[in-house]
Amino acid sequence: RRDDGSSSGDSRQFLSEYEVDDSNGYMTSDVAGPIPDQTSLKAGIRGSTLLEDFIFRQKIQHFDHERVPERAVHARGAGAFGTFTSYGDFSNLTAASFLGQQGKKTPTFVRFSTVAGSRGSADTARDVHGFATRFYTDEGNFDIVGNNIPVFFIQDAIQFPDLIHSVKPSPDNEIPQAATAHDSAWDFFSQQPSTLHTLLWAMAGYGIPRSYRHMDGFGVHTFRFVKDDGSTTLIKWHWKTQQGKASLVWEEAQVLAGKNADFHRQDLWDAIASGNGPSWELCVQVVDEDKALAFGFDLLDPTKIIPEELVPLQKLGVMTLDANPQNYFAETEQIMFQPGHIVRGIDFTEDPLLQGRIFSYLDTQLNRNGGPNFEQIPVNRPLGQIHNNNRDGAGQNFIHKNIHPYTPNTLNKGFPAQANQTVGKGFFTAPGRTVSGNLVREVSPTFDDHWSQPRLFFNSLTPVEQQFVVNAIRFETSHLQSATVKQNVLAQLNKISNDVAKRVAVALGMTAPAPDPTYYNNNKTAGISITNSTLPTI
Ligand code: HEM
Repeated sequence: RRDDGSSSGDSRQFLSEYEVDDSNGYMTSDVAGPIPDQTSLKAGIRGSTLLEDFIFRQKIQHFDHERVPERAVHARGAGAFGTFTSYGDFSNLTAASFLGQQGKKTPTFVRFSTVAGSRGSADTARDVHGFATRFYTDEGNFDIVGNNIPVFFIQDAIQFPDLIHSVKPSPDNEIPQAATAHDSAWDFFSQQPSTLHTLLWAMAGYGIPRSYRHMDGFGVHTFRFVKDDGSTTLIKWHWKTQQGKASLVWEEAQVLAGKNADFHRQDLWDAIASGNGPSWELCVQVVDEDKALAFGFDLLDPTKIIPEELVPLQKLGVMTLDANPQNYFAETEQIMFQPGHIVRGIDFTEDPLLQGRIFSYLDTQLNRNGGPNFEQIPVNRPLGQIHNNNRDGAGQNFIHKNIHPYTPNTLNKGFPAQANQTVGKGFFTAPGRTVSGNLVREVSPTFDDHWSQPRLFFNSLTPVEQQFVVNAIRFETSHLQSATVKQNVLAQLNKISNDVAKRVAVALGMTAPAPDPTYYNNNKTAGISITNSTLPTI
């Protein structure tokens, strides 16, 4: 723990070589010339200030350029360092080296966030929450860029800008709570029924967690494990909180947003600074490749969970956060997570949302950083060596000695050598994976059910939790101005449950749609049917 109590633990030790200590020495310019004092250079004691004053210009110019673009989404967040410890040798599941040995420790960094708010927005706004984890493994950086809700709003990445435009603040006045902003969000939700499952989770306690420490995390998409022999399985990532799950109630969330907009940030910082850093167990659901369609829905569809009754969780290890960042900008702001940061033993699937994300994060980070060398920033540097033919660009920090930066070459004795020719390693992509088909711009018919899993979710809640969801929908839709949007929302809720539609309609002063049994009997998630016979009628 540092003397000022702001941090503890060893997990960020690997960054210490980059730290700058101002506690001795004299003040200098950026190129180490001594700065005598803090007065600008003037012609005469009463001015004017001279353009010649390069010390003044350097200081002001640096200040003028201090801000970089905030993240396009997930701009508001807080992060910390930790350590992941593997529970065993899981080479029977994956070749990933960080899971290859019992007790093996890997440094991590986690950033928690909300999605829609700007960098200065309140922590307790109702939203999906980001749960992004970087593993600094001995075979490269691996990121699980997940959320605290196990499903997502859309099934195809091409819809992401539409989703985000509908939930961001109103473009005319940039007021998040503007009635026009509510109209946009619920207009999109009710026209795009793939959103309904995530929407119900967000209207439950998951949208307003008690703290970051009390959230689970999910990889959302189905990924692949690849073994050393090249064989693969389908997997879903889960982080299970060791602190227990808890949420705020809406009134608390609103009061906190006014009284302490940094409530979650503060909670995480204080827990770690006091030596009580939170822990999560990393678990997976593992499914054979030929079972992708076996549960009544498509495992490539990110709007679906695999119920744990059908595929139980396997525990792989535990992560404990034990060190706060030294500098928010250098670490929490400059970390660049990417779903494309995978390591040997882990592969993508064809999920069309995941496929688009692999492009989007790298692209937006080129914009956020202003150039292609952001992986050289300390918090993004992997623990291992980097050898390749990438060169130059803004912010280049490496001084490459190889004057033959191309492959194949003979003049640099063939180096950097390709990994499969030296250590026999390096397949990121499962060797036997085939992708083929005619070109189509169509949604797969296996992605067509949007109502049975929201119903499953609602029915799995206790009556008190169900009332929480109904109250949240009532509150949010009470801001709607458009009668058409209100009607469309009720029509979609009615496809999930006539009971929910009726209870929301009462609050909106509208007539509830008639029950639509064609949907209610359509329970596509095989083997799982939960009905709760004790629904309250408030
Ligand atoms: C951040 C795009 C879906 C979780 C971001 C950022 C972009 C983005 C542009 C900002 C990244 C940065 O500036 O570093 C997209 C697109 C999606 C999508 C195009 C769908 C096509 C998802 C999904 C999840 C997710 C499904 C959860 C599984 C996150 C998280 C962050 C993030 C946690 C914040 C990472 C951090 O803390 O730095 N996303 N996203 N996103 N996204 Fe997504």
